[in-house]
Amino acid sequence: MDITILGIESSCDDTSAAVIRNTTLLSNVIASQEVHRKYGGVIPELASRAHQQNIIPVIDTAIKEAGISASEIDGIAFTRGPGLLGSLLVGVSFAKGLALSLDVPMMEINHLQGHIFSHFIDLPDRELPHPRFPFLCLLVSGGHSQIVLVKDYAEMEIIGTTIDDAAGEAFDKCAKVMGLPYPGGPVIDRLAKEGAPQRFKFAKPSVDGLDYSFSGLKTSFLYFLRDEMRDNPDFIEQNKADLCASLQSTIIDTLLNKLVKAAKQYDIDEIAIAGGVSANSGLRNAVAAEGRKRGWNTYLPEFKFTTDNAAMIAITGYFKYQRGEFAPMDIAPVSRIGD
Ligand code: KG4
Ligand code: ZN
Repeated sequence: MDITILGIESSCDDTSAAVIRNTTLLSNVIASQEVHRKYGGVIPELASRAHQQNIIPVIDTAIKEAGISASEIDGIAFTRGPGLLGSLLVGVSFAKGLALSLDVPMMEINHLQGHIFSHFIDLPDRELPHPRFPFLCLLVSGGHSQIVLVKDYAEMEIIGTTIDDAAGEAFDKCAKVMGLPYPGGPVIDRLAKEGAPQRFKFAKPSVDGLDYSFSGLKTSFLYFLRDEMRDNPDFIEQNKADLCASLQSTIIDTLLNKLVKAAKQYDIDEIAIAGGVSANSGLRNAVAAEGRKRGWNTYLPEFKFTTDNAAMIAITGYFKYQRGEFAPMDIAPVSRIGD
């Protein structure tokens, strides 16, 4: 029997709704909030207000684009956390109201697991390669940098995590220092293509085990620019591409180093990447090249599933629906998970 799931994502600054039938994506609508650009970062209060405005049109469009009627929805998956509480509240409350009115169960989804399970979505015209269990997933976004050992649909273990900033944060903060617009990751990615990655050297973190640290890089980048600009106020402008390429290559080296270590330590050669930073062309090329060298099967997500989207929430919800793992009506969003 077909199972049709509506997914709702509102953890940060994108309001998204998606419909999945079994593992096939029928629609995935994302309203990105432009309002934060002029502030150089997400303003939580403005984010929740924009979600409030966007949520009904986004869900309505997702259902229409899927070519279904609301009565065909078997379950509603929503992001419970982690994320901004005011933003999450909008999605969670709406999911509850809709689940009540349609008389269908709800599935609470961990946003990070959603990113990982984006690898199990199929498109209407083609199946995508799915990692085989157990696999390692390098999950790199604006809020998280983790290496996750994914044992099956329900069981996973974080084997490495950042002790301070996330990789996406490092991209965004360094971009801000260079006067680039928010979010800085995609802008650095684009500029880096024209630059020399070996031109400048920045501090690489030395952290034990499989953990990451990116706050030192941000500081060393800031001090480096401050020193250079004392002699040459146009330093950033004149060296933008090389700065971006060098910074990006430092972040990629750091990410890859621990990923290789994890693959060896756990003797796993199924390697996936996910999250907003997995859209980075340099990271994608580097993981693919490393995979060829080491005989990994590498899984790079479709671009549209890298940054926040509800398709990943819907597919994770589909697996939970199959297991009968439903959320109670009094469930509350959580800004952090696992604390
Ligand atoms: O997964 P995501 O949309 O939201 C979170 O869950 O955090 O990730 C957003 C992050 C931002 O930091 C953004 O700069 C980064 O992903 N990002 C990129 C690229 N595209 C998005 N970073 C580097 N290169 C990109 N192409
Ligand atoms: Zn995310």
